[in-house]
Amino acid sequence: MNGYFFSFEGPEGAGKTTMIGKLESFLRERGFDVMVTREPGGVRIAEAIRALILNHEYTEMDGRTEALLYAAARRQHLLEKIVPALEAGRVVLCDRFVDSSLAYQGFARGLGVEEVWKINEFAIDGYMPSLTVYFDIDPQIGLERIRQNREREVNRLDLETLSFHDKVREGYRKLAKRFAERIVVIDASRPLDDVFSETVATVLSRLEGSKRHFHESNRDDSCWT
Ligand code: TYD
Repeated sequence: MNGYFFSFEGPEGAGKTTMIGKLESFLRERGFDVMVTREPGGVRIAEAIRALILNHEYTEMDGRTEALLYAAARRQHLLEKIVPALEAGRVVLCDRFVDSSLAYQGFARGLGVEEVWKINEFAIDGYMPSLTVYFDIDPQIGLERIRQNREREVNRLDLETLSFHDKVREGYRKLAKRFAERIVVIDASRPLDDVFSETVATVLSRLEGSKRHFHESNRDDSCWT
């Protein structure tokens, strides 16, 4: 595998998708072969699963069903899109990956990070990003940004309570501490330009400095608390 696998995480309204778009242009201009993709989705089957999960009419969806569907979408997306791009030596920028499931389903839904990790371990079969950029923001500010940005669809998870989104943030912060080597925290409450320059610096340092493009999972199930 010659490519680079980077994921981007954050609560709603952190500006993650905007940052990925800007980063894509920046890297392309410098000659990198970049592929941007997103979860849940990215390929036909995963997009179909996405429509199922995020449909706000399905209020009866059980938490474990939700977690299994995210893991299933992840598996298909990984195999069809991410792995071939890494094999072709491309830089993969993935909008959300396994940490979303750990933070949203594991922590915020209360399913347990160990349990959610187990089903994801089965789904991803050793493929993990070498770098995860986590855009940290107070959910209240993030949700306010979404309300102002009317072009973005409101999905089933946006309709959760503020305390759910607070838990998502707490989950991400715990993950960032636990995986400090992989997860870089960026304060997304600052002006866009500042957030972008820090994002660029972080990504470039990994592109230039690291020969290890992706690594096998080395998570220790006993370390989640
Ligand atoms: P999306 O519209 O892509 O939101 P965003 O722009 O914030 O990424 O919707 C994805 C939603 O799914 C978002 O609320 C986070 C949630 N999610 C999970 O709960 N678990 C997961 O594993 C993933 C990938 C996403």
